[in-house]
Amino acid sequence: MSDTKGSSRSPARRPMTVPRLLEKKARGEKISVITAYDATFARIFDDAGVDVLLVGDSLGMVIQGRDSTLPVTMDEMIYHGAAVARGSRYAHLVVDLPFMSYQPNVELALKNAGRLLSEGGAHAVKLEGGAEIAPTIAKIVSAGIPVMGHVGLTPQSVHAMGGFRVQGKTREAANRVLEEARAVAEAGAYAIVLEGIPNDLAREITEAIDIPTIGIGAGPHCDGQVLVSYDLLGLTPTLRPKFVKRYAELFDAAKRATETYVREVEEGSFPSAEYTFGEIRSENGSEEPAEKGDSETAPQKGKGYGPR
Ligand code: KIV
Repeated sequence: MSDTKGSSRSPARRPMTVPRLLEKKARGEKISVITAYDATFARIFDDAGVDVLLVGDSLGMVIQGRDSTLPVTMDEMIYHGAAVARGSRYAHLVVDLPFMSYQPNVELALKNAGRLLSEGGAHAVKLEGGAEIAPTIAKIVSAGIPVMGHVGLTPQSVHAMGGFRVQGKTREAANRVLEEARAVAEAGAYAIVLEGIPNDLAREITEAIDIPTIGIGAGPHCDGQVLVSYDLLGLTPTLRPKFVKRYAELFDAAKRATETYVREVEEGSFPSAEYTFGEIRSENGSEEPAEKGDSETAPQKGKGYGPR
C-alpha cells in the first residue's frame, strides 16, 4: 500500500463525488475514468488515483468473450458492480444499464437503475441515447440517482449503426450528435460519454454543455477520458483500436509468467522447499524447528487462500 501523492490510500484523498466532478470541469481539471470489472483491478485503479471507475457493459466483450455488449444482463452488471465496489474506496463508481434494461419503458429503467445502486454498489448509472431517452434520464434523476449519458458511437445500437463506426463525420451528422448531447444534459445528466466522434465535434459539445464530457475515441478536447482497462493494459492483444494507447503489455507479461510456471511444474523445480509446509511433526509432541515456510512466510489465517 502506497501513501505517495496521488495514491487513493493517502489520508488526504477524499472520495470522488458528483459535485466534485462538476467542480473539476469548472476549474478546467481533467477527469480520469477507467473501466473495472472485479475487486482486484478496482483496487489497483483506485490506488492509482483514478477519479471514476466505470463498470461498463463492455464486460460482455472483454470478460465474457462475446462480440457485442447486447447479451449482458442486469444480474451480471450487479455482480460485477458489487465486486468493484468492494475493491474501491475513493473512486466514484458508475455502472452501465445493460441493453433492454431501460429502453422498454421509464418504470423499468427506474427500477433497474435503483437495483444498480442498492445491489450493485453504484453511485451513478450510465445509459446510451439522445432525445429519445431524455424522459427516462429525467425520471431516474428525479429519484435521486445520478445519470451519466453516452452519445456518438453507442455500442448497444451496433446493428442500427452497421457496426462499431465513428459517428458525426458530416456536418449534418455532427449536428445530430450535438443535439443528442444537449438533450441528455437538459434532461439532468451530470456527465456524458462521447464515444467515436471527430475531435472538433467533441470540442463543440464540451463548450456547448455545462456537464463534464468524457471522451473515448473523441480526441483531446473533452473534460475527461475513459478507456477500457483491458485495452490500456495490453490484455487484449488482437484488438488495437486507433484511439487506444497501451500503457503496458500485460498479456505478454502474464503469458511469459505462465510459461515459466508450466516449465517449472513439468521439470519438478516448483515447488522448491521455500514454497512448502515442510514435513510431518514428530509423534512425541516435541516441536520441530519452525520451517521458514511454516510460520513466517505462510499466509495468516483469513489473509489469503490455500492450506494453513
Ligand atoms: O461499456 C463500456 O465500457 C463503456 C465505455 C467504453 C465508455 O461504455
